[in-house]
Amino acid sequence: MYKLADELVELGIERIKGFPVEGFVRGRGPEHPAIMLVGEAPGENELETGIPFTGRAGKELMASLKSVGLEREDVYITSAVRSRPYKWGKKKERDGRITERKYNRAPKKQEIIAHAPLLDAEIKDVAPPIIVTLGNIGLRRLIGPEAKVTQLHGVLMETPILRWDEGSKQFVETEEIYHVFPTFHPASVFYNPPVRTLKDEDWQKLGELLRMK
Ligand code: URA
Repeated sequence: MYKLADELVELGIERIKGFPVEGFVRGRGPEHPAIMLVGEAPGENELETGIPFTGRAGKELMASLKSVGLEREDVYITSAVRSRPYKWGKKKERDGRITERKYNRAPKKQEIIAHAPLLDAEIKDVAPPIIVTLGNIGLRRLIGPEAKVTQLHGVLMETPILRWDEGSKQFVETEEIYHVFPTFHPASVFYNPPVRTLKDEDWQKLGELLRMK
């Protein structure tokens, strides 16, 4: 099992202080995973379990993994941000009362920058044979802000990726070339059901690529 160094966890907690986020969930997986999955950020469920992708989206993701003969234990799962970004919203209780509660939200650019050194370290240490980005947040973190999952999904890219350069305070391209396979975030099928077919086709293509290796 790969374990992100405690100093990096502390750095991540320190760098994200002051943003509306809570908790910290480490990325998880073996030292030599079949693939590395890069999502957005943990949500409420993941904060409770301390394990990435354990909510509804996680169930969907596990089904995709199973469809290509993989299990959670075979892959490394992480995301652009490792704390849960939240926003306050109103909830109508059964008795009609309105209460305030925290809802999950996508991470913002400054939050992604705050945790960029963590993902950079994970990618460098784990050196996965293929990085599978789940949704636009993970894809743009690695390929750049113009990238679109709807255009790039389902095709293996051989490309430099972006890493955070603290000196110049910007993302710069790596010298190394990586294999990046963009696909949809598993939760996208809940709010956009037609995406399911595309997502399932992507996973079949990924399965073929893994069999060819
Ligand atoms: N979405 C993510 O990107 N990561 C999780 O762990 C859960 C949901």
